[in-house]
Amino acid sequence: MAGTRARALAWRLEKVGRVGSTSELALERAREGSPEGLVIWAESQEMGRGRLGRSWTSPPGCGLYFSVLLRPAVPGEHLASISLVAAVAMAEGLSGVCGLAVGLKWPNDLRIEGKKVGGILLDFEPKGGKRPAVVAGIGINLRTPPGGFPEKFAERATSLERAGCRFPEEGEMIGGLLERLEQWYRTFLDSGFDPVRERWEALSDGIGSRVSVSLAGDPAEGKMAGIDAAGRLLLDTGGGKLLSVDAGEIIES
Ligand code: BTN
Repeated sequence: MAGTRARALAWRLEKVGRVGSTSELALERAREGSPEGLVIWAESQEMGRGRLGRSWTSPPGCGLYFSVLLRPAVPGEHLASISLVAAVAMAEGLSGVCGLAVGLKWPNDLRIEGKKVGGILLDFEPKGGKRPAVVAGIGINLRTPPGGFPEKFAERATSLERAGCRFPEEGEMIGGLLERLEQWYRTFLDSGFDPVRERWEALSDGIGSRVSVSLAGDPAEGKMAGIDAAGRLLLDTGGGKLLSVDAGEIIES
């Protein structure tokens, strides 16, 4: 946080062909002691993972699939915020390459015209450890898969190609996205989460709208008021009450 100035990050890109999951590979490297800055980028994944235990369809030629290893010296309660740091960086980076507005849906869906074009998955190694390494896995839909997106998500998903974006070749794109990630990661380490929170809220699709959020038990409903200092969703449930939600998913917005 403030006071723990970040060193310049030297990204080390490791390009692989077909893997199980780039995040699994990055977690393995973290266990072996690899320093931060490692980026594993795959052509395709056989067992790509998404949030909430879902799978992430990752055929060759259809997406960017990469995972970034970070070792932030921040207190444990701030680690989850890194997914929002990455979300802001990816939204800005994608807007930069595509010239299209890329919005955010809490916590870290990347959206174009209200449809999901990418997502971020955070893993820790060791899980629940004191100073864990963080692996941010990033998936971006470049082209719609030949058979379409999985039926369950088809209506809510898009790709850069479907949105009419002309994008550069993949290596150049990843370079641009990593540049943004480095910028926002440094801002986070040097100045804390506040500037990230402000930018995240400015990029958010849903602030002020009524949403329903799936929680462990019953869904909660309310007006999306913003996010708090730890990246939790603030839901105005009426009568002046603000509910803060740290896990789950917005099911309508
Ligand atoms: C989400 O559910 O929105 C997050 C999707 C994250 C997918 C990426 S693809 C690269 C990395 N490797 C994985 O197995 N998952 C992430």
